[in-house]
Order: sequence, then structure tokens, then C-alpha cells
Amino acid sequence: MFITFEGIEGSGKGTLLRCVREWFAEEGIAFLATREPGGSELGRTLRTILLDARNHVVPEAELFLYLADRAQHVRTVIRPALGEGRVVLSDRYADSTIVYQGYGRQISLDKLTALNEMAVGGLWPHLTVLLDLPPEEGLARAHRRNQELGLTVTEGRFEGESIAFHTRIRQGYLLFARNNAHRFVVVDAMQPPAKVFAEVRGVIAERMRERRQ
Ligand code: TYD
Repeated sequence: MFITFEGIEGSGKGTLLRCVREWFAEEGIAFLATREPGGSELGRTLRTILLDARNHVVPEAELFLYLADRAQHVRTVIRPALGEGRVVLSDRYADSTIVYQGYGRQISLDKLTALNEMAVGGLWPHLTVLLDLPPEEGLARAHRRNQELGLTVTEGRFEGESIAFHTRIRQGYLLFARNNAHRFVVVDAMQPPAKVFAEVRGVIAERMRERRQ
């Protein structure tokens, strides 16, 4: 089973993923936790380039770097793990390209859809968890986290973008989730982390039961 996690900056994906990993480990469920960009060996190099604010990457180049990361990730990491019968949990996947490069950078959605198809080679998630919250709250959380870690805001590249940019991202996610309701579940990320996890755990457990039947 392939599960992806999506959401704007500061939506709490990291905290949620930690809870899911602990739960799977306790239950003895074989899994692989990975992320984009940076889930493969090549991808780790691409991630360094993508997230370094000193690199002035033009939107088209940025798009191809995310796609290269994904193509390599699918074929060298995700598919092999699924082949071994493991549940794959990915922090971001193809939907991030639709919203960040499409709704954010305003590259044509038709083109992105075709390029994404090529990158994923037919592998779409069985379940996508979208953590939804207002961008003002997400950015405030991301800012607090950066301060605690001693990072400057621009080190996470999109964190330096405006509220208007992040509002487009959020709306893009919600629209895309509605149009792909068969695999999306939208969770209110303003709830306390324990509640978010409880809700997501319920959904994952149910989907796993359905797949076993
Ligand atoms: P990361 O540090 O992993 O951020 P987060 O904790 O928010 O997931 O950085 C990933 C950044 O890359 C994030 O700002 C979203 C962006 N991104 C894209 O623009 N397009 C993509 O296809 C992917 C996978 C990520």
C-alpha cells in the first residue's frame, strides 16, 4: 500500500508521520518512510540544490528537478519497497508538483499532469492525506520551527513566499482533493496533533482492512 502526505508549510506533516511510523513499528507492520524531494540517493543531491535559497532556479528548471527526483524515487525506492510488501509512506509526492509548480508558479496544469504521469510511470497513491489549515497559521508555525532550529526563513525556499502564494497553494490542494476524492482524505490540521493522528490512523486502518478483503 502506498500512502502520501501533503499540505502547506507548517501543516504538521512531520509530526503526523512520526506518529504513523511509531504506530506501524509497534504493530509490526513492515513499512518504508520516505520523502520528496530527496527520497533516493540522486534525490538527496537534487534536494540540496532545490532547497538552497542561494540557487536562483528558474521555475522550469525547478520543475524538472522535482520531476527527476520523482522519476528516480519511484523506480529505485518506492516500487522495490512495495514489491517487498511494505507499506510506503511518502512525505510529499506528485500532488506537490501540481500545487506548487501549477497553482504556485503558474505553469500549465495540463503540461504538469502529462509530465507527472511520465515521472510516476503509472504509480499513484492508494491514499493521500491532505493536512489543511490557513496559510497564516502554517507560516507562523514554520517560522517558529525555523527560529528554534536557528534557521533563516529563506532556508526552506517556499517559506519566503507571500501569503497570497500560499493561499493559492491551499486552494489548489483543496480543489485537487475534491477532483480526486477516491484517494484523498482532507484532515483539519488546526486540531491538536493527537486528534489529527487519531483521525488519520482510523482512515489508514480502514483502507488496510478494505485492501485485505
Ligand atoms: P521540505 O523541507 O521537505 O518542506 P516541507 O516540510 O514543507 O515538506 O521542502 C520541500 C519543498 O519543496 C516544499 O516547500 C514544497 C516543495 N515542492 C515543490 O515545490 N514541488 C514538488 O513537486 C515537491 C515534491 C516539493
